[in-house]
Amino acid sequence: EEPIQIGLLGLGTVGGGVFKLLQSNGQEIALKLGRPLEIKRILVRDVTRPRSVNVNPELLTTDPLAILKDPEIDIVVEVMGGLEPAREYVLEALRQGKSVVTANKDLLALHGKELFAAAEATGRDLLFEASVGGGIPIIHSLKECLAGNRISQVMGIVNGTTNYILTKMSQEGRPFAEVLAEAQRLGYAEPDPTSDIEGDDAARKMAILASIAFGTRITYPQVYHEGISQLHPQDIKYAARLGYAIKLLGIAREEEGMVEVRVHPALVPLEHPLAIVQGAFNAIFVEGDAVGQAMFYGQGAGEMPTASAVVGDIMEAARNLIHGTTGRLSCTCLAHKPVKPIWDIETR
Ligand code: NAP
Ligand code: HSE
Repeated sequence: EEPIQIGLLGLGTVGGGVFKLLQSNGQEIALKLGRPLEIKRILVRDVTRPRSVNVNPELLTTDPLAILKDPEIDIVVEVMGGLEPAREYVLEALRQGKSVVTANKDLLALHGKELFAAAEATGRDLLFEASVGGGIPIIHSLKECLAGNRISQVMGIVNGTTNYILTKMSQEGRPFAEVLAEAQRLGYAEPDPTSDIEGDDAARKMAILASIAFGTRITYPQVYHEGISQLHPQDIKYAARLGYAIKLLGIAREEEGMVEVRVHPALVPLEHPLAIVQGAFNAIFVEGDAVGQAMFYGQGAGEMPTASAVVGDIMEAARNLIHGTTGRLSCTCLAHKPVKPIWDIETR
């Protein structure tokens, strides 16, 4: 069977994981799809940089058009990060009739409306499971499995780097800077880890989750957020003495037709399930009128867990191409619901 051709934009932590997973599980994936998947070209900044994956150097390019304008490439996988030029490349890929898979929460939480409208216009998929919760299938769960519910709350730990830092500071008494450097080495942190530490990354993820859960459009600037940079080791020690863990929580609620979304450190009782979420794991509670409470738990960052979500999306896009269908949910048909202004949110 003819392979379905993929263009990768980025070969860093996530792109490298996707490359490895498609190599190691390629045969099973081909059996499941009925067609093999093949990476045809990979966009990077520097083709001479040593790579953690064993890649044929001829696949590497610094020219985005070698992927975006190649008519043989069916699916573009954006794992380069940042707003520009990622936004421009995703839009061009869709205009060229390609399906797009992305892990880029920065992009979706700010430009989601424009990007989903472009996907709608071209009838192609724009899939983004890896943008929230790493390997946890939270996006598909909210979009599809829980779609029949009226969701009242989505709450939890959605940033692996900060949870890793808080865990190591509290359990091993290690300094913030040392643990952050370790999280960076392990591939959990964003290229600029300020967005992890100051809560921006979690705010972007909560904007995406709240938009799907409440069927409205919430962008990153509408999310109140505080990070963990102002926390001292003493805060963590005293909290533990009083029977609490400090966790960076994302909280999204709909009450009386109004949506509130916030991210900030919170005291969580030690016996609460969120208090025992360790390292780069994430956990997300969802409350719906039919399902009651559901909790999603797993590795929220890192090479292979994130690749797991990206490859799942690639397979969905491939299946849709094979069967001539597109994604099962259009994110453009959303209702408008008022969002509580950030200055009106009480966090203490
Ligand atoms: P990364 O390790 O910094 O990798 C980025 C890759 O993109 C590199 O290969 C880089 O090329 C390439 N790149 C960046 N800008 C480029 C440009 N302008 N032109 C060409 N190539 C460019 O980043 P990452 O951790 O894999 O993250 C990628 C995306 O996944 C981000 O949106 C991030 O938020 C998201 N994400 C990450 C994780 C995680 O655990 N790391 C989890 C979920 C989602 P060079 O290699 O030549 O520098
Ligand atoms: N930097 C992010 C985190 C990567 O630590 O959660 C996963 O989105």
